Amino acid sequence: MPEVTELKVKESEQGIRSSDNQVTVVVSKSITVVGIGPGGKEYLTFAAMAAIEKASVLIGGQRNLELFNNLCKETFVIKNNLQEMLDFIKEKDRCNLAVTVLATGDPGLFGILDFLRRHFPPESLLVIPGISSIQLACSRLALTWHDAVLTSTHGRDCRHFIDSVKTHNKVISLTNPRSSLSELARLLIAEGVEKRTVYLCQNLSYPDEIIIKYRLEELAVLEVTQYSNNVMVILNDA
Ligand SMILES: C[S@@+](CC[C@H](N)C(=O)[O-])C[C@H]1O[C@@H](n2cnc3c(N)ncnc32)[C@H](O)[C@@H]1O
Repeated sequence: MPEVTELKVKESEQGIRSSDNQVTVVVSKSITVVGIGPGGKEYLTFAAMAAIEKASVLIGGQRNLELFNNLCKETFVIKNNLQEMLDFIKEKDRCNLAVTVLATGDPGLFGILDFLRRHFPPESLLVIPGISSIQLACSRLALTWHDAVLTSTHGRDCRHFIDSVKTHNKVISLTNPRSSLSELARLLIAEGVEKRTVYLCQNLSYPDEIIIKYRLEELAVLEVTQYSNNVMVILNDA
């Protein structure tokens, strides 16, 4: 039996050990990826806040960075400039400056971690989890999510969304802020989907948060496009 001893690591030196206790990889993580939750500061964890406070440079979307304006950090704004962001991170690394990337919700759920993992090894990424918008939507509706299919139409085509709703009783989807939610309902109906309740959970944790319940057919005849941030919960009521 391998001897299992406690592996104590500092956040910046987290290690990965093989099950036979032979190999310990202790690395220094140069990029911290912080999940900041759905937007409201009350959903920011203590771990996230501590990482942000000690960061030298913050990278994130404008709205996320604005939450921490008072900390007066150097910032880089993400806006369709991911290659520039990579160059910026590498430049800071050359100067031995660790960067902190802010991610909405949890970084690993349809978030920036996917992109960062394509460019950096896991050894250089310290990920601080956050409360996802999907978690908050489910909490608001008192719904479990271990039995749901999670999908997204944000920045990707709708095929996975449509197939998921056709074949599963509980589907939770992130939406594209610029696309029509009624159009999504029409696409589902055109594919033969019926008897569904749809909850649009909008701007969760912000002062203008609102949750609206529709029948699928009802949503399809409206023109609901103006919502900026939405989690769509689709339940089969058959
Ligand atoms: C790029 S994805 C990031 C998701 C994030 N990683 C998470 O765990 O919530 C952005 C999408 O998340 C959803 N979203 C993020 N914040 C939200 C909020 N406060 N209220 C409702 N939906 C939100 C919207 O569907 C938005 O288009």
